[in-house]
Amino acid sequence: MFGFFKTAKPRRIQFESDGQAHQTIEVSDKETILSAALRQGIPFPHSCRVGGCATCKCQLREGKVKELTESAYVLSEQELDQGYILACQSVPRTDLTIRLEQAQVPGPSPGAQTLCGRVTDQRRLTHDISALRLRLEQPLRYAAGQYALLSVPGIVDEARSYSFATPSTRSGRSDVEFFIRQVPGGAMSGWAQGATPGTPISLQGPFGDFYLREGQQPILCIAGGSGLAPLKALLEDALQQHNSRPVVLLFGARTQADLYCLEELAHLQQHWAGDFTFVPVLSEEPSSSPWGGQRGLVTDVLAQHTRPNAQAYLCGPPAMVDAAEAQLQALGVPAEQIFSDKFLDKSSLVHSA
Ligand SMILES: Cc1cc2nc3c(=O)[nH]c(=O)nc-3n(C[C@H](O)[C@H](O)[C@H](O)COP(=O)(O)OP(=O)(O)OC[C@H]3O[C@@H](n4cnc5c(N)ncnc54)[C@H](O)[C@@H]3O)c2cc1C
Ligand code: FES
Repeated sequence: MFGFFKTAKPRRIQFESDGQAHQTIEVSDKETILSAALRQGIPFPHSCRVGGCATCKCQLREGKVKELTESAYVLSEQELDQGYILACQSVPRTDLTIRLEQAQVPGPSPGAQTLCGRVTDQRRLTHDISALRLRLEQPLRYAAGQYALLSVPGIVDEARSYSFATPSTRSGRSDVEFFIRQVPGGAMSGWAQGATPGTPISLQGPFGDFYLREGQQPILCIAGGSGLAPLKALLEDALQQHNSRPVVLLFGARTQADLYCLEELAHLQQHWAGDFTFVPVLSEEPSSSPWGGQRGLVTDVLAQHTRPNAQAYLCGPPAMVDAAEAQLQALGVPAEQIFSDKFLDKSSLVHSA
């Protein structure tokens, strides 16, 4: 037996809170803390997985990690001094002890599963967004608005986040759809634009806390590009529940060619039990076109459609979400009534030396 092929010994991570040990997991070579935790059924809080949102921050009490990206970008100076790291960007170099906030303490998984499935359909919605339909080996329960991690074994092995575009049902759903925008140079989104039926897919989820909150307040939805996916699912789900809260849906796109699902949105509007206002807003429609709708950015029309008692749901490009969130707060919508998912990708990574 040759001795020079060494298999790296798995590291151990102990999670603790309030000085009490909770759970210990093993991490394989090159695996991040977050991936290892999710793989072992721990519902570790996270969102973007690319170091851009800080949802996965946790305090390193003992041990050493290699950081894949510059966490100073999203963590405050004080947090860095206190040893906070991003679980999605940290690969253990030694055994670790990680302190979690009480709210992060691993408990029973709220239903995240890993399922196999196959592509059943792929169709173009616009020149850069495709709908990818999958059939899962068994029904999955999720809340409309949540997302899943998708990977294509042997083709795109590293999982990417995509929001369900279809609402769930009480017993779960095995026929699920995602809207995938082609990111320039993107591995998964490039593959998805030409995905062939029958291709095996792996799905892990559901994840995320982007779902419709209870209440009677008006619902304000702001979608940009493929950010329509979770909002369409969330509103279709609410329609099934006979929700009658007033709705305003602002849909930002570049030109008329970038608008899609208009029939589905018209159906929603027609069957909604209360007021339902749908406003497409185009930022780059040629001035010579006969388009008679709104022009500009969604933030340009926000003031006329926002009531301070609104509950707001924002989804799409990070710049749009940040701008709309700031404007909503300036218009008097409390931060606790604003919910958002930013569609971050790896291009936002700032690498560590
Ligand atoms: C919670 C959540 C939900 C989402 N839901 C959706 C959805 O429903 N629909 C949707 O279209 N998108 C969604 N997204 C965004 C989606 O996850 C990304 O667009 C996706 O990961 C891109 O994957 P890709 O393989 O196509 O691109 P990647 O191959 O990951 O590359 C993305 C970009 O980063 C660049 N890049 C690659 N590696 C690096 C690196 N190491 N350093 C710097 N740059 C790099 C690439 O050139 C490319 O421009 C969601 C994101 C989040 C966080
Ligand atoms: S999940 Fe780690 S920074 Fe967003």
